[in-house]
Amino acid sequence: MVKFENVSKVYPDGTAAVKGLDLEIKEGEFVVFIGPSGCGKTTTLKMINRLAECTSGKIYVNGSDIATVDAVQLRRNIGYVIQETGLMPHITVGENIAVVPQLLKWNKKKIQNRVDELLEMAGLPPEKYKYRLPSQLSGGQKQRIGVLRGLAAEPDVVLMDEPFGALDPISRENLQNELMDLQKKLKKTIIFVTHDIDEALKLSDRIVLMRHGKVEQIGTPNELQNNPASEFVKNFIGQDRISQISPDDSVEVLVEESAINVLPNFLASSVLEQMENIGKESAQVVNKNGKWMGMALMQNVKKVSSRGGSIKEALIIDRKLYIEDATLRDAAEMLSAQPLPVPVIDKNDRFIGVVTGSGMARITMDRLKRKQIS
Ligand SMILES: Nc1ncnc2c1ncn2[C@@H]1O[C@H](COP(=O)(O)OP(=O)(O)OP(=O)(O)O)[C@@H](O)[C@H]1O
Ligand SMILES: [Mg+2]
Repeated sequence: MVKFENVSKVYPDGTAAVKGLDLEIKEGEFVVFIGPSGCGKTTTLKMINRLAECTSGKIYVNGSDIATVDAVQLRRNIGYVIQETGLMPHITVGENIAVVPQLLKWNKKKIQNRVDELLEMAGLPPEKYKYRLPSQLSGGQKQRIGVLRGLAAEPDVVLMDEPFGALDPISRENLQNELMDLQKKLKKTIIFVTHDIDEALKLSDRIVLMRHGKVEQIGTPNELQNNPASEFVKNFIGQDRISQISPDDSVEVLVEESAINVLPNFLASSVLEQMENIGKESAQVVNKNGKWMGMALMQNVKKVSSRGGSIKEALIIDRKLYIEDATLRDAAEMLSAQPLPVPVIDKNDRFIGVVTGSGMARITMDRLKRKQIS
């Protein structure tokens, strides 16, 4: 149904986001991509509907090489649910769900029935929610609408990028169950991205575990649990590690790649564009020897950009943690004071990575879940 042949993606700034991906996804299969932040999951999804073009290799959907298919046509047959929901703010919930059916020129009655049916299914009574604007919904409700919109036109393939990330555990579990039922009934091919290993183990036929743009292991949940291909896989799956974490442990377990990582001589305007494109409020600035020069915040980048300066003029250097002695408690304090990534460096100022609020929330959530069980 979806086939990757030696697919790589290098962004114009030189970031190699995906490296040599080979994978064949069968019709009706539920495949989950998982891996640390920045490992290339979203990029992989976006290449399937050509929101990102691959730099080399080939992707086939339903037997056709997608490079030869009109991108707009291609997207009509592929449902897409994105990390930030992507609802259009100026039209109602009902109209948002109906976007693709409308493009496909379904008749009005069929569209209305479909919208009502989907809203019922997600536990949002149509008469109450259909005419609201997205701004009149909670974060979790918006995510549900995002999911419904992806399913609305009954596409053969549905791409879902962390669709349940912002939901509370109970709504999340409900929607997971609904999605599983739906997939059994409708035999959709679903390609799903998550950070949550429990979610991956529960939903998937196969898991693709990625790291630094490469596949670390592909296999069924059982294969990954019983035959991890590397120490990394073992750590990623075996969450006993996480249940044993204490606030005095090293910040090391939480360090992830930074979403935006640029050289000091980059123009502030180009960094600003990157930040806006991927919706990040900060960037890390690291010289070519790997030395951390500082962190740039959106408001400063804007100022420097407007006078044509380079990113090194927008740096702050007092927000940082040293890998040798910082604890999770230190990271939590900094994150709660200001909800932006905290750079982690070593005593020689070498850049190691960042600690983010969502990374911290994930650990907390895992600990809470384990408390409930025990
Ligand atoms: N438009 C872009 N231009 C340059 N680099 C980008 C762009 N979009 C993503 N990247 C980089 O490509 C790499 C992979 O990004 P991607 O969004 O695919 O990661 P991800 O696995 O989805 O991460 P997350 O779990 O945080 O959503 C990262 O290093 C990221 O900074
Ligand atoms: Mg992503």
